[in-house]
Amino acid sequence: MTATTSQAPIGIFDSGVGGLSVLAALREAMPAEDFVYVADSGNAPYGDQEPEFIEARAFAVFEFLLKMGARAVVIACNTATAVAVHRLRAAFAVPIVAMEPAIKPAVAMSRSRVVGVLATSRTLESPAVAQLCRVYGAGARILLQPCPGLVERIEAGDLEGESTRSLLRRYITPLLAEGADTLVLGCTHYPFLTPQIRAIAGPEVQVIEPSAAVARQLKRLMAENSDAAESGARGRVQFFTSGRTDAVQAVITALWRQPVDVQRLPCSGGESGAAESKA
Ligand code: DGL
Repeated sequence: MTATTSQAPIGIFDSGVGGLSVLAALREAMPAEDFVYVADSGNAPYGDQEPEFIEARAFAVFEFLLKMGARAVVIACNTATAVAVHRLRAAFAVPIVAMEPAIKPAVAMSRSRVVGVLATSRTLESPAVAQLCRVYGAGARILLQPCPGLVERIEAGDLEGESTRSLLRRYITPLLAEGADTLVLGCTHYPFLTPQIRAIAGPEVQVIEPSAAVARQLKRLMAENSDAAESGARGRVQFFTSGRTDAVQAVITALWRQPVDVQRLPCSGGESGAAESKA
């Protein structure tokens, strides 16, 4: 076994804790890597915000991750990707891996040819999703279902409560009534609700999300650049947030299933950021 040769971490960010579903897949695929995770929870949900705001947050977080020495960045947020990925790629030379709703594999897997896509309003309104539907949706009906309110439930750590379940029923039942046999989780927060979604959708419905594919893509990219960490040791993860650090730390600890230390994100912006830094 060799010691870690690539010391610089990989940056990963989301509007909040949703990107942990992606981070879990990255850690499994690349256990020796160090990661810096930013949960921009003080500014979540992005899905209800104006594109200019989302883009400004994405730029601020990117700059922070680069200051932390990130040698690649994963945008673990469909909404930030849909709104800002082109400008981010144009502005930063660092390798970027981004998310998009898994419409292509869903259409390929669907037998009923009806696919439901659960995501934020901002993602579903984006030209990127229109393009995915155009390119991969031939011969299928793709039902785009915005899910306002769900991200907030997950940010609050409420996976099991009645308000979370009733939102899920409200969003999923009409898709099933239309004949959807495949559901795409087009927001990185939603995989934390997979058991609850399966309970509503039933065993015949496939539920897909792309975190494993994103991890494969990052691994391939690092290998191509001969830039993968080589180590027998497990890499470490540092967590930062623009939300209330104590509250976010409690939610991350629950979702990550181990105690974590969450630090204050210097570029927090937003009301809760301002409130906490004044306190
Ligand atoms: N996890 C983000 C995504 O994948 C959630 C967006 C939000 O904050 O509304 O889209």
